[in-house]
Amino acid sequence: MLLQRVKPLSRLLAETQEQGHSLKKTLGPVSLIAMGIGAIIGTGIFVLTGVASAKYTGPSLTISFVIAGFVSAFAALCYSEVASRVPIAGSAYTFAYASLGEFLAWIIGWDLVLEYALGAATVSVGWSGYFYTVVKNIFGFQIPQYLMHNPFDTGPSGEPMHGIMNLPAFCIILLIGFLLVRGTRESAVVNNIIVTIKVCIVLFFIAIGVGHVNTANWTPYFPYTLGGTFFGAFFVFFAYIGFDAVSTAAEESVNPKRDMPIGIIGSLAICTVLYIIVAAILTGMVNYTHLNVPQPVAYAVDQIGMPWASALIALGAIAGLTTVLLVMMFGQTRVFFAMSRDGLLPAFFSRVHPVFRTPAVTTIIFTLIIATVGSLTPISILGELTNMGTLFAFVLVSISLPILRKKYPTTQGYEVPGGPYVIPVISAILSGLLLLAPFWSPLMARAFGFKIDVEYILGIPLPWFGFLVWLAIGLVIYFIYSRKSSIVGKEEAAAAAAAAAPSSAV
Ligand code: ALA
Repeated sequence: MLLQRVKPLSRLLAETQEQGHSLKKTLGPVSLIAMGIGAIIGTGIFVLTGVASAKYTGPSLTISFVIAGFVSAFAALCYSEVASRVPIAGSAYTFAYASLGEFLAWIIGWDLVLEYALGAATVSVGWSGYFYTVVKNIFGFQIPQYLMHNPFDTGPSGEPMHGIMNLPAFCIILLIGFLLVRGTRESAVVNNIIVTIKVCIVLFFIAIGVGHVNTANWTPYFPYTLGGTFFGAFFVFFAYIGFDAVSTAAEESVNPKRDMPIGIIGSLAICTVLYIIVAAILTGMVNYTHLNVPQPVAYAVDQIGMPWASALIALGAIAGLTTVLLVMMFGQTRVFFAMSRDGLLPAFFSRVHPVFRTPAVTTIIFTLIIATVGSLTPISILGELTNMGTLFAFVLVSISLPILRKKYPTTQGYEVPGGPYVIPVISAILSGLLLLAPFWSPLMARAFGFKIDVEYILGIPLPWFGFLVWLAIGLVIYFIYSRKSSIVGKEEAAAAAAAAAPSSAV
């Protein structure tokens, strides 16, 4: 029963034209690739590489990036097909509504809050770390520590940091929220410029770093065993998140059939190559045991005696992280916009601003929530929960592909190679395995006599615990509110009543 309430694709497409609910079509292939790179390169490479290599992977960080990139590539193929067939705001949520049914669509939409909203919160904390460095090194001003940390943060030896809130993280989210209320087009122009700066900064790091690699730093290559490398793949998977956010802009894309695959696969391919090179160089420049710092990329350059280059990289990182925030917050608002348009969330989430034609109310609400959560929660918890939400969405999107093709054989779009099953099944299995890594990778490491630093609550790895609690809250809301207020549900009930009426009248 639960899986039967499906929203027909024709209805989905017709609704996007409705007065007061339609979004402007302004995005072409270049803007979409830029949007992808804008979302992908960020806290993962600029911040989480440090913790990952020092705590879980050592020099095998490079292998972790290869593994996570491999998993993402299969998901990217699936997203490309699905987004080009269902070019409607809302991404994975919308695909699921047309194929897997309302219940699983709700779960995906709810789950995507973890990916986009918590993802943005994670990035705001990374942004704040680089901002601190720039303000200190370039302007000589030190932001007080109690305004840089949340109340739960501890120092390298576990000492309390006495934080009140992460103020820069809070402020940057407010700024991005303001840009998004003003409109996609303006935001896309800002995005294109900053993405160029970000890619140049990464290439700059590669160019100056390659000559300073000391291959002795690559030994031992697997200091935390293969189990650590796999957990590291789960951890740095965060760095690849973002290509899927391109699919949330499908409705605003000029030619989704051609441009969705170009935007999604193109941006992921470029970033994967850059990441693998950066990971190899970073762990070659500095011994992994020294990399547990908030800004490892700038730190590595500092270590080779080039403080000016380090400051430049920090500046570029700030710019780069800003575009990640832009895309993630954009994605979040579009998912809630789509869910509200379907009656699963209150109507004000899909109200479009009369002048800017953006979902202004949703944007303002999420801006306040993300700013608060980001400024009060530790970055590793935020990052791991984001990974859980994203990998779970990848599994469901992969499964939805063959169902969509079967249900709507006449829809046109990009097609994954090898038929409707091979790539989607491999993708679902790979994403599922990485999703389960917090369970199995510590066991694998233990088999080699090593203990990975993973926190557990009630015997469940912390990321899984948080994920399950979040899903449980979502289920309660669905059954109390959304199932009854669903527009598709109401129409089905009305149709059933109409069908029953003549017979009862007889
Ligand atoms: N991939 C994005 C980042 O690394 C989310 O910040």
